[in-house]
Amino acid sequence: MGDDTLRQSVHDRFVAVNGDHPMTAEDDAYVRAHFVPASVEALELMLADRLPLPSYVLGDGTPMVPADHGRPAEIAGGIDRLHDWFVAFWEGDPETGEQEWVAYLSGQYVCLREVLPMRIKHKAERIAEAAAAVDLLRRDPHDPVARGMLGEAVDGVLGVPGLDSMLRPMTAYDRLRFGGPTSREQWVDAPRAEFLTPTPPTWPLRTERLVLRPYEPADADAFAVGWASEEWTSLLLSRPMNRAEVGEMVRRRTELGDGLFISLAVATQDGTVVGDSMLHLQGTGLSEGEIGWTVLPGFGGHGYATEAARAVLRLGFEHFGLRRIVANLDARNDRSAALCERLGMRREVDRVADFWSKGTWTSSYEYALLREEWAAGA
Ligand SMILES: CC(C)(COP(=O)(O)OP(=O)(O)OC[C@H]1O[C@@H](n2cnc3c(N)ncnc32)[C@H](O)[C@@H]1OP(=O)(O)O)[C@@H](O)C(=O)NCCC(=O)NCCS
Repeated sequence: MGDDTLRQSVHDRFVAVNGDHPMTAEDDAYVRAHFVPASVEALELMLADRLPLPSYVLGDGTPMVPADHGRPAEIAGGIDRLHDWFVAFWEGDPETGEQEWVAYLSGQYVCLREVLPMRIKHKAERIAEAAAAVDLLRRDPHDPVARGMLGEAVDGVLGVPGLDSMLRPMTAYDRLRFGGPTSREQWVDAPRAEFLTPTPPTWPLRTERLVLRPYEPADADAFAVGWASEEWTSLLLSRPMNRAEVGEMVRRRTELGDGLFISLAVATQDGTVVGDSMLHLQGTGLSEGEIGWTVLPGFGGHGYATEAARAVLRLGFEHFGLRRIVANLDARNDRSAALCERLGMRREVDRVADFWSKGTWTSSYEYALLREEWAAGA
């Protein structure tokens, strides 16, 4: 078969599988950036049903395949072994294995960064997990098990890759051939927007004596006093800062960013700034928070840090639906440790000389509180 006839035959098979849809200039550019033209040899193997059809055909007719199109055959020990090696991943369920083989040969696994049987299985597992989690979260957005499932499905956990790392963005052409949103839009972007993106509460938070609110540029004056002090900052991660640096720190903190790092100025009812509080949302399914605090020099010993931290714990557990909140501190910071204990937090980790801070290897503690422990004590 001449090269042109070969290309035409592959093109016809491609259209029979995918339908005839336009590729936009943007689609072409995406495909050129992420895929490579198929070799003549690969085209012959496609027509013999031994290698997957092209992932895309460009507007000018060039058949495009993943850069590692031939790699599975190499791993299998040769093209003749590819089928058996592939379906063996569905040992015990040969029917699904054969169905996946047909899907693989169709070239339609364009959503995967790595078109390998392991990844095809992982994708199916993670999508099933995400679908089940979304169902549960629509009933209770704070369901801790569903948050774990969705976190694993979308972002992965240790040893389990998530859909975010597995799926390619794909193109407008894919929306047409598959008749809907891309896998990534459906299983990464949509659940992330609905359940893994924090919604800020109504500020400020108010307690008996305090107001916790987003930073304002003018707060730099109050914070400059503490942050200039070598002694006051000695057990913090940051070094002492001059007025300009504090101004810059405060300016950055006024930017709310992605909403994962919540940093609040703490003031008394008359507006005097006495310290700050922070909550960093993190962990699988955004179900964990790290809390932090300072009280500025001259305002310690009044219970302000305790009162502010209680409001932040409430915010974390009740508003953000966190499952667990932790505090990490320098083990020499007795006042901070005492504060954790006052809050009912449990010392879970006692690390010895684990981090380098200001010229010395420093020990640290991690304290933690689960939502149910907090609810029992609240
Ligand atoms: C860690 C830090 C926030 C603790 O401050 P603190 O003043 O000890 O904590 P609080 O504001 O909750 O005050 C508690 C103290 O006020 C007393 N108090 C007075 N009225 C109180 C009230 N209404 N409620 C609770 N405690 C009250 C408590 O008895 C306690 O005093 P004590 O330790 O002598 O028993 C503060 O030392 C600090 O900012 N240090 C520098 C920065 C820093 O290290 N940050 C933490 C990094 S992990």
